Amino acid sequence: MSQDDLKRLAAKAALEYVEEGSIIGVGTGSTVNHFIDQLAEMKQLIDGAVSSSEVSTERMKMHGIQVYDLNASGPLDLYVDGTDEATRFLHLIKGGGGALTREKIIAAASKKFVCIADDSKLVDRLGTFPLPVEVIPMARSYVARELVKLGGTPMWREGFTTDNGNLILDIHNLDIMNPVETERELNNIAGVVTVGLFAIRPADLLILGTPEGIKTIQ
Ligand code: A5P
Repeated sequence: MSQDDLKRLAAKAALEYVEEGSIIGVGTGSTVNHFIDQLAEMKQLIDGAVSSSEVSTERMKMHGIQVYDLNASGPLDLYVDGTDEATRFLHLIKGGGGALTREKIIAAASKKFVCIADDSKLVDRLGTFPLPVEVIPMARSYVARELVKLGGTPMWREGFTTDNGNLILDIHNLDIMNPVETERELNNIAGVVTVGLFAIRPADLLILGTPEGIKTIQ
């Protein structure tokens, strides 16, 4: 089975949590793309979706899925999204695709966050994947200097602008011993919009596609 097959498997398993007549929070990435494609097959059963990125919005619209603004939908029962790394405590690193801010907002506004991934995303400790941080453009150098003081090696994702008009710094070599504490600390740097650590509000359920089938952690 290819990694893509494992992503599709995890995405399919998440359909079980979709309730009839509901509006679903939908994330971003190649695993979520599988979820969107499969959700499209049951689109007449749902009201619609709230999207975490322009890319996912476009894909859902192409399938004829109604996309709502979060301000119009109100609180959501379910949010389905992928991840770049996950631990068995359901702490995540997200933002490889740069959609971390909208993803964090939707996760916060949702009752249940179901994370879908292939089994290569499960790690013992977060941080091998560089931690994305969205920053206000004028704060880029200041934030980078603060991140160096914390022991990280920030790299500017040059040529990339987020859907919110901001920049991304990817932090390499950061020691993430305590994800909740690190998330709080980075959130406090002036100019930081969002940190790609999802630990204060972790996932509620992790669905992993493995060569032996689906594995869930909650
Ligand atoms: C998007 O910004 C990320 O948070 C994605 O959820 C993450 O990169 C997972 O992407 P894949 O499903 O493509 O691995």
